[in-house]
Amino acid sequence: MSDTVVLAYSGGLDTSVAIRWLKEERNMDVIAFTVDIGNVADLGAIRQKALDVGAIKALVVDARETFIQSYVFPALQADAVYEAQYPLATALGRPLIAQLLVETARKEGAAAVAHGCTGKGNDQVRMDVSVAALAPELKVLAPARDWNMTREQTILYAQTHHIPVPITRTSPYSIDENLWGRSIECGILEDPWHEPPSDVFAWTRALEATPDEPCYLEIEFFEGVPIALDNEKEDGVRLVTRVHELAAEHGVGRIDHVENRLVGIKSREIYEAPAATVLLKAHQALEALVLTKEQLRFKSKVASEYADLVYNGLWFTGLRQDLTAYVGSTQRYVSGTARLKLFKGNCHVVGRKSPYSLYDYSLATYDKGDAFDQSDSPGFIRIWGLPVRTQARSQSLFHQKDQC
Ligand code: ARG
Repeated sequence: MSDTVVLAYSGGLDTSVAIRWLKEERNMDVIAFTVDIGNVADLGAIRQKALDVGAIKALVVDARETFIQSYVFPALQADAVYEAQYPLATALGRPLIAQLLVETARKEGAAAVAHGCTGKGNDQVRMDVSVAALAPELKVLAPARDWNMTREQTILYAQTHHIPVPITRTSPYSIDENLWGRSIECGILEDPWHEPPSDVFAWTRALEATPDEPCYLEIEFFEGVPIALDNEKEDGVRLVTRVHELAAEHGVGRIDHVENRLVGIKSREIYEAPAATVLLKAHQALEALVLTKEQLRFKSKVASEYADLVYNGLWFTGLRQDLTAYVGSTQRYVSGTARLKLFKGNCHVVGRKSPYSLYDYSLATYDKGDAFDQSDSPGFIRIWGLPVRTQARSQSLFHQKDQC
């Protein structure tokens, strides 16, 4: 009797070849499993393709709202951006796909799960480690890591096995997309000196084609989670999608990143992340208003730890739970609204308000109504400057001109 394997199936070339390869080279019954996190145009067509190629069963699931609520919004609350550039769309999607893959494998009584990641990237790590955390007993197969075929050979394999090769194979790029962003690599992009050609971008308009009038939008947050756009309450998927549309139209969210992969390689990746770019800015603007200086400083350290952890495939760990608890605590007063202006590829915060604002007009103003008692300042400065004066008296740090 053949073993059953549940394969994370995207409908693309590699995972289609994987269905046949697992069947023929590993003598396994393959259940194709497709997760929609904003990456799938036609779930029905993908299902049919999996069956045509040789899967014994093809399952599809719409996980868009789970992705937004349980992965994207927690990362937004954390302000997680890898190396200050990449909002982690692909990296956030993998643990959810792994989680659903494990659930399905258990339901179907499968001994193994499989994915289409190659052996050079971060995604294999994220998938393997996530499955290991949730189901250490399950075997994880990665056919594209094992079969040792070049892209040309994979296409040939597909053709000889009558697996339809999508016309998009002429695209030289490797693309991954979901609701939080689109990741593009390979082809001419592998030359970091080469400007990304226009055909790299599918979501965002080129600057030359953006409207000549700016667009303003208001995003309301409740405890760090965006809940309304321009005063209209929206669920997570709708809100992200609407922000995406506005930002993409104004060319906002193109990112050109030479990044450090977990496996030690530097790689050049282009991202389109219109919604993420806008929502992260809006969220940070609100935090600047309601968190203290010290909370902001500490939280920014947590943000980079959190981003590294997500990037490095460590979603299902105790540390991620701990950081989430800290971030959650910081968000209890992050409620209010940020106002943004989108224009010619830029997204500027132009206003922010919150019932919990720490901004006190009567303290900040230079006009009448000033409640800041300036006569307190000299005493404060005497104490603040005390160690400086002490040092100046006993050490001649700045006596010569070249010491200044
Ligand atoms: N470099 C990004 C990451 O590690 C994206 C990886 C997937 N990109 C792709 N074009 N297939 O998260």
